[in-house]
Amino acid sequence: KQIGVLMGGLSGEREVSLRTGQAVLNALQQKGYRCTAIDAGRDLAMQLRQTGTEVAFIALHGRFGEDGTVQGLLELMGIPYTGSGVLASSLAMDKIATKKMLLYHELPTPGFETFRRGEDMEALLVRCRHFPLVVKPAREGSTLGITIAGNEDELRRGLAEALRFDDQLLVEEYIAGRELTVAVLDGTALPIIQIEAEGGFYDFGAKYTSGQTRYLLPAPLEPVLYHRMQEAAVAACAVLGCSGAARVDFRAKEREFYCLEVNTIPGMTETSLLPKAAQAAGMDFGELVMRILEGAAL
Ligand code: DAL
Ligand code: MG
Repeated sequence: KQIGVLMGGLSGEREVSLRTGQAVLNALQQKGYRCTAIDAGRDLAMQLRQTGTEVAFIALHGRFGEDGTVQGLLELMGIPYTGSGVLASSLAMDKIATKKMLLYHELPTPGFETFRRGEDMEALLVRCRHFPLVVKPAREGSTLGITIAGNEDELRRGLAEALRFDDQLLVEEYIAGRELTVAVLDGTALPIIQIEAEGGFYDFGAKYTSGQTRYLLPAPLEPVLYHRMQEAAVAACAVLGCSGAARVDFRAKEREFYCLEVNTIPGMTETSLLPKAAQAAGMDFGELVMRILEGAAL
């Protein structure tokens, strides 16, 4: 079968996606697959036809890739694709929608306020009294546009910064504690990773520059907590309806943990977390790519 590896794309995470896509492409070629790199721009439908793509491996991150739009196009064209379907993808791309789903299903997530471009910012500031807070564009990835606000001035600046990335923002309670992530593969949790970024903030630089972050794998959590967190990750994926690979990000304070978001196309670059978790479960990069490919469904 002819496999199209969809990468690049139109989002702020384009460069990350090119790295994920190249790694996937190399792995598929090593396994002897016929595959083509497709830069998923506005002409994606035409490229899929021209390359004779029979299965799409989606290595896109962010909007127009991870958010259900590309999945919808592939459904329409009748091309099987990897990962989550349309609804799960769009729910997970939107951190506000995700949190509402988590709350509905009684899964823990930090308290939050929302803000839409054009709304009364002063009214929001009145509601935001307990600092620090985290300001996030609702639909971005790789920490783009995210800042931590320790006071009202920083909050104003954070809102302006996040508005550069999205019209909808999330202002979230900052959980001072550990940062953890749980990869979920076909409904099963992989070993948990604890992340310790140099300087304390696991931002874009810390995510993609080798040597800037320490990864504790498996995370040194007490067994009961470890299993509860794995269960919560599986449940978060289930309530959103995710398929294939996903990665659920958490913060933990003492014995409490909170789910921040679900990534339906986790990064697969040299420094990314999903390949590390898979490795710890005894699955090398090529095997991980094969597992994801086997899940391709319409
Ligand atoms: N959004 C990035 C690619 C991740 O979650 O790994
Ligand atoms: Mg994310």
